[in-house]
Amino acid sequence: MPELIPVITKAQIDAAVSRIARDISNDYQGRNLVMVGVLKGAFIFMADLARNLSIPVQIDFLRAASYGAHAYSSETIRLTKSLELDVKDKDVLIVEDIVDTGLTLKFLKSHIKSLGAMSVKVCTLVDKRERRKCELEADYVCHAIDKGFLVGYGLDYAEEYRGLPEIYHLKW
Ligand code: IMP
Ligand code: MG
Repeated sequence: MPELIPVITKAQIDAAVSRIARDISNDYQGRNLVMVGVLKGAFIFMADLARNLSIPVQIDFLRAASYGAHAYSSETIRLTKSLELDVKDKDVLIVEDIVDTGLTLKFLKSHIKSLGAMSVKVCTLVDKRERRKCELEADYVCHAIDKGFLVGYGLDYAEEYRGLPEIYHLKW
């Protein structure tokens, strides 16, 4: 059985979400912000973030999948649910659970730019730096870690653990 080792507590998550929400509210004051959550992992983070903003925001979601179990280039990523809002001339902030290789977000950023968005930035709950395979810098980061497989607060392993209120390292 895998072991769950606590990594980020509820108090740390709450503090980071408030801090990031304050930064986003300042940076996007007076703009047309659309937050785009990446399903499914970002759903809890997105809900907490949206409730902490002090500016108006429109919300949409999309979903991406990689063709193989191991995606080695952004060409092997496809959309399985696309945006429903028109993001042309809007300021888009992609909200992701975790950046690992960066290939998913590289693909999603260029996709949203191709829809005519005025700007596209990235906000991630966790920035996992060790396996990055492309130039991808998240603009807003709640927590940075080097490595390890994390679950909880939306993050899953084989669809399990998403409902845990804190974030754990899943260790075999
Ligand atoms: P990337 O394209 O390699 O950056 O992959 C990002 C996606 O892989 C994330 O959106 C997650 O769905 C998944 N992922 C990567 N690392 C983890 C992890 O530690 N826990 C849960 N999911 C992860
Ligand atoms: Mg994800």
